[in-house]
Amino acid sequence: MSQPKVTVLHGPNLNLLGVRQPDVYGYETLEDVNNALRKTAIMTGWEINCFQSNHEGELIDAIHAARLDGTLAIIINPAAYTHTSVAILDALNAFEGKVIEVHISNVHKRESFRHHSYVSLRADGVIAGLGTQGYQAALDTILASTE
Ligand code: DQA
Repeated sequence: MSQPKVTVLHGPNLNLLGVRQPDVYGYETLEDVNNALRKTAIMTGWEINCFQSNHEGELIDAIHAARLDGTLAIIINPAAYTHTSVAILDALNAFEGKVIEVHISNVHKRESFRHHSYVSLRADGVIAGLGTQGYQAALDTILASTE
């Protein structure tokens, strides 16, 4: 039997994690975050695919790929596209598994344009303000709920 699979998607500018506004996003790099998630997933017998893009269409293509590659759940930090992208929402609406939206910062404590999320209209859960630990919390929830 094939392993259960989770896909982790990171939106624009998250490739700069660790160097970009560390007061807001912390000092961990994206590679640190992905490596920790890979470790947890693999230990639990899951397959994990981590992908970052600065391009909306590439994130949409990755969501479409997840529909067909056996992905049971998507963890997504759409970054600034959270607040603008109906297209990412539409792509997620075509995905049948679980979706957890993660924000490193507490977007509700920040500028008002960050308070609205298109992706939250689809997300089964939303985590904000736990720092990069939020990804781990999302993964733990998926691993526990889909056992
Ligand atoms: C973010 C919050 C967004 O408002 C912002 O555009 C980001 C990162 C977060 O993880 O806190 O790039 O999604």
